[in-house]
Amino acid sequence: MIETIFHWHAFVEIYKEGWGSILIDPFISGNPKTDVSLDQILEKKVKAIVLTHWHSDHLWDTPEIAKKTWCLVIATFELAQYLQNIQWLQLVHPMHIGGEYNFGDFSVKFVPAVHGWGIADLSTPYVTFPAGVIVRIDWKNIYHAGDTGLTYDMKLLGEYDNIDIAFLPIWWNFTMGIDDAIIATKFIKPKIVVPIHYSTWQVIDADPVEFARKVMLENISVPKVLNPWQSVILK
Ligand code: NI
Ligand code: MN
Repeated sequence: MIETIFHWHAFVEIYKEGWGSILIDPFISGNPKTDVSLDQILEKKVKAIVLTHWHSDHLWDTPEIAKKTWCLVIATFELAQYLQNIQWLQLVHPMHIGGEYNFGDFSVKFVPAVHGWGIADLSTPYVTFPAGVIVRIDWKNIYHAGDTGLTYDMKLLGEYDNIDIAFLPIWWNFTMGIDDAIIATKFIKPKIVVPIHYSTWQVIDADPVEFARKVMLENISVPKVLNPWQSVILK
């Protein structure tokens, strides 16, 4: 049984009972609505962290979690270099867009996202390409779009990747908003779709219930609006 837990903003935990957790974009310190503390995360069996891009609302607690749990950190090549050479992380697995790697109990594929590529730590020369990720575990395909605008590339996921659950940003200002996320859902054809990355700071508000209503009206997926402690169990 795989459980995907929403910890608010873009932080999604993939939990497998008796095995442990994969954290995507663990942003806890400074995440105003998250349900977990860093200590609670450190008590878990963290197997891996997967990062979509550098921005602080995605990478933020990664160095500390990685140093304390000795989990593997999986990121695009330049971001992996930054983590190794600037943050001094030991267990880093670099990948890149289009690449897929089987880590034994799970595999990860990086897919394109259209977003900023800077590493805003100005002491570093690194830039990278922002990504979405597909995590495959126990025959489930979990897609986290990262931060992105709508792209026609998402059609490939719908045609070839059999996505069980998709986590899509709906925030308008920095990423696609609700209307484009609806088109993305049509492209990706996930069995379940979860809106994320909205209303954390009031740059502009997005109503996840409006997104869910539109998904249901168009009958393109099963929407789940999650509070920051709720999860979806993939059977
Ligand atoms: Ni971002
Ligand atoms: Mn973001």
